[in-house]
Amino acid sequence: MPLVTRRSLLTAAGAGFLVSASGGAYAGLIEPTMLLGVTTYELTPPGWPDDLALDVAVIADVHVNEPYVPLARVTRIVETVNRLKPDLVVHLGDHEATNRFVRARVPPREWAAAYADLSAPLGLWTILGNHDWWHNSREIRQALDGARIRVMENEAELLDHAGKRFWLAGIGDQLAHWLGGRGTFAGEDDLPGTMAQVTTDDPVLLLVHEPDIFTQVPARVSLTLAGHTHGGQVHIPGFPNPWIPSGYGERFRYGHIVEEGRHMIVSGGIGMSIIPVRFGVPPEIVRVRLGRRTLAA
Ligand SMILES: [Fe+2]
Repeated sequence: MPLVTRRSLLTAAGAGFLVSASGGAYAGLIEPTMLLGVTTYELTPPGWPDDLALDVAVIADVHVNEPYVPLARVTRIVETVNRLKPDLVVHLGDHEATNRFVRARVPPREWAAAYADLSAPLGLWTILGNHDWWHNSREIRQALDGARIRVMENEAELLDHAGKRFWLAGIGDQLAHWLGGRGTFAGEDDLPGTMAQVTTDDPVLLLVHEPDIFTQVPARVSLTLAGHTHGGQVHIPGFPNPWIPSGYGERFRYGHIVEEGRHMIVSGGIGMSIIPVRFGVPPEIVRVRLGRRTLAA
């Protein structure tokens, strides 16, 4: 067995780049503030009808603040989403956040108003994230209400898309209240109460902020959409990241996860937590194309 593997060389190269001057500029400026990609998933998960073609644009963890995610960045997000011409737009929470490096907040009414330019027949729906609860929940909720952005908190709504129906459900945040001890929180989430509102056989799309609740999501849900992890925020393949904000570490860090026939997509999101750095997980809009399409579609 070779002492130095190709993987360990790549890991060492990635770590070395990150601490170099050019790597620091990339991780602190270029990747987090300039890049914005679109990651597309096409799938027809169990319970989702083949003929229910639905395009969903997913925004997550924007963490609006000055100077790292300013109002102009929200405008760019809106323009990027509109180019995708989605049927539905969902925002998975952590609209804004603060940390020691943030110089100023962007008033919630300003970033909320920017989302008014989103164009989708089924509109924009959101849930709240842990940072929304911790820093400014009352003002954020008022701003979302004022901009007519529907906030889902342990609710399920039956939506109609081109004559076909599906449930859109969203749960309250799982880390809403810090209880004072290290890693001790009380949540606002009520998954059973939310599922109890699903009263027909139509398929279910579930919005959650933290992915950890996926272990409890019933198979009745076709697809769970989650954010919160930022894909680890720093990701070097082969280099363990102990700061992934999930009790399951790498298992729910990022991407399309399938367990026991249940599907979840975890977005890498857009903004940053704790420190203004991203590396190896560029900011992204997630596009989910559900239902099989004909070649002409
Ligand atoms: Fe979060």
